[in-house]
Amino acid sequence: MISIPFNKPYLSGKESDYIVEAVHSGKISGNGIFTRKCQFFFEDNYGFRKCLLTTSCTDALEMAAILIDIKPGDEVIMPSYTFVSTANAFVLRGAKVIFCDSSQINPNIDVSLIETLITSKTKAIVIVHYAGVSCDMDIVAVLAEKFNLFVIEDAAQAIDSYYKGRRLGSLGHLAAFSFHETKNIQCGEGGMLVINDEQFIKRAEIIWEKGTNRSAFFRGEVGKYSWVDLGSSFLPSDMLAAFLYAQLENLEIIQKRRKEIWNTYQEGLLALEEIGYLQLPKIPGFASNNGHMFYILCRTQVDRTGLIDYLKSKNVMAVFHYLSLHKSYFYREVHGVRALPLSDFYSENLMRLPFYYELNTEEQEQIMQYIFDFFSTLV
Ligand SMILES: Cc1ncc(COP(=O)(O)O)c(C=O)c1O
Repeated sequence: MISIPFNKPYLSGKESDYIVEAVHSGKISGNGIFTRKCQFFFEDNYGFRKCLLTTSCTDALEMAAILIDIKPGDEVIMPSYTFVSTANAFVLRGAKVIFCDSSQINPNIDVSLIETLITSKTKAIVIVHYAGVSCDMDIVAVLAEKFNLFVIEDAAQAIDSYYKGRRLGSLGHLAAFSFHETKNIQCGEGGMLVINDEQFIKRAEIIWEKGTNRSAFFRGEVGKYSWVDLGSSFLPSDMLAAFLYAQLENLEIIQKRRKEIWNTYQEGLLALEEIGYLQLPKIPGFASNNGHMFYILCRTQVDRTGLIDYLKSKNVMAVFHYLSLHKSYFYREVHGVRALPLSDFYSENLMRLPFYYELNTEEQEQIMQYIFDFFSTLV
């Protein structure tokens, strides 16, 4: 029986060569040659104003929270259906997170509900582009302007994706990407902070460098470097950046293949949606698809558990993720009783199918056959 994991990190084959090159360059701590190559790649090709590699998207989000000066009592609006880091980064600075429900169309935040949650304490809206599919950013921008709020894009899954032709990650004041091994391009653990608002650039470099003005010192702008602000150890070793650079060089071919895999699932499972056994992902007209993941929405949690178990019995690993944060052990008391039914719906019914560059057509056909077999046993 074939065995199909949920994820296999992509490797271009050049990762180890570049790591060796980084080692031989004599500077393997942060902000070395490959760090700058990766940052320039995004600044030049993506039109991001300033990029700083970080050791994770979590770190980039924490930098964002420091940069917008989150203080105890501030409120930050975000979806409940997201990874813990989206919320943790702001709670660590003392913010109260105000969770918003997901949309009917897809697991993204329901932008039509955001205004109802804005108070005089609201400081920021954190948008998560779930599965790399954009939220309706024009609506978010109007709210941000009207209420003088910061917009932060949690673009962990959103590499190479667009909103009305504009790059995701370029639309908020700040944006955070992930290069964790489950992402389209990866370096094991890694991330990037994008700074689109000029006012944050100088301070971002300081926070990145443990609260010191070391970057300015190395550029010869100051005579000595010292402690000038809050900060932490957010910058990755240049060896990680070297690994990442080898992936960036192949971004186009990775994306081409991932989109093919996505389309194969979408077309292959359409018949099951038509019969009403499951729902397939919906991509609004203003958004692009970056082939980050393929999810299905089961009718019930019982169906989902049954299907995951059935696939597992066939050595195919499918997973679910994100439990509504407003109901989490850590935050449910702060959140209170306000119901977020769609967030709960996605928590209970969404499941992700195996998805990685090397997944071949035969394996994909086999996975889909198993899914059809499972549903054919149901009444
Ligand atoms: C929406 C979202 N935000 C943040 C993160 C955290 O990313 P990282 O593992 O790079 O810290 C993830 C992780 O998958 C995520 O899905």
